[in-house]
Amino acid sequence: MISEHALAQQATLFTPRLKLEQLGEKHFAGMMQGINNPELSKLTGTLEVFTLERIQSWLTGLPGRNDRADWAIVRQSDGVFLGEVVLNNLDEHNQSMNFRIALSSVEVLNQGYGTEVTKAVIDYGLDVVGLHRISLSVFAFNPRARRVYEKCGFVQEGVERDALFWNGVWVDSIIMSVLSSDPRV
Ligand SMILES: CC(C)(COP(=O)(O)OP(=O)(O)OC[C@H]1O[C@@H](n2cnc3c(N)ncnc32)[C@H](O)[C@@H]1OP(=O)(O)O)[C@@H](O)C(=O)NCCC(=O)NCCS
Repeated sequence: MISEHALAQQATLFTPRLKLEQLGEKHFAGMMQGINNPELSKLTGTLEVFTLERIQSWLTGLPGRNDRADWAIVRQSDGVFLGEVVLNNLDEHNQSMNFRIALSSVEVLNQGYGTEVTKAVIDYGLDVVGLHRISLSVFAFNPRARRVYEKCGFVQEGVERDALFWNGVWVDSIIMSVLSSDPRV
């Protein structure tokens, strides 16, 4: 049974160094930092260029939604916005959602933040929202993200061949999931 309340009124989550709070209008400046960064855009396969207006209106509409949960990743020590993490694509009947994460500057990668966040959101999704399955896709050229997902309990299910056409090159997309019945790491 899915708790829509746990999505609409999503909890603030704490990890050793981070606070995950409802993403919204107040994170506009932080979101703008990373949104059109070419290196980060490649890792998420994002071709669109986002306008200020579009981001603002997107952020304004997020709080209270009962079909997804979007958190801002904030460093506890100095309050700096580090990125966003999302559970979306709710399939209520099959108790599943999709997972997505993006830190918003290259300076904060590889410091263990992504691992902390991913573990906390898996626990929230499976234990509090009541999901049976959380899935994601990750491009083959992103071994760092794949490593983080594996460390946190995601298991590879398959490969979508040539799912992305990036700068003239076809790239595979790897499908991974974690189930409520999987051993928790
Ligand atoms: C993916 C992302 C969330 C990971 O978070 P992070 O804080 O950078 O990662 P962590 O520091 O927690 O862990 C990185 C792990 O990958 C490993 N790693 C780093 N680069 C690697 C590489 N090129 N090949 C293999 N492993 C690599 C690190 O050694 C570490 O594993 P370890 O703890 O076993 O040593 C973050 O890098 C990010 O937001 N990247 C940009 C957007 C993106 O790629 N989003 C995911 C789209 S699917």
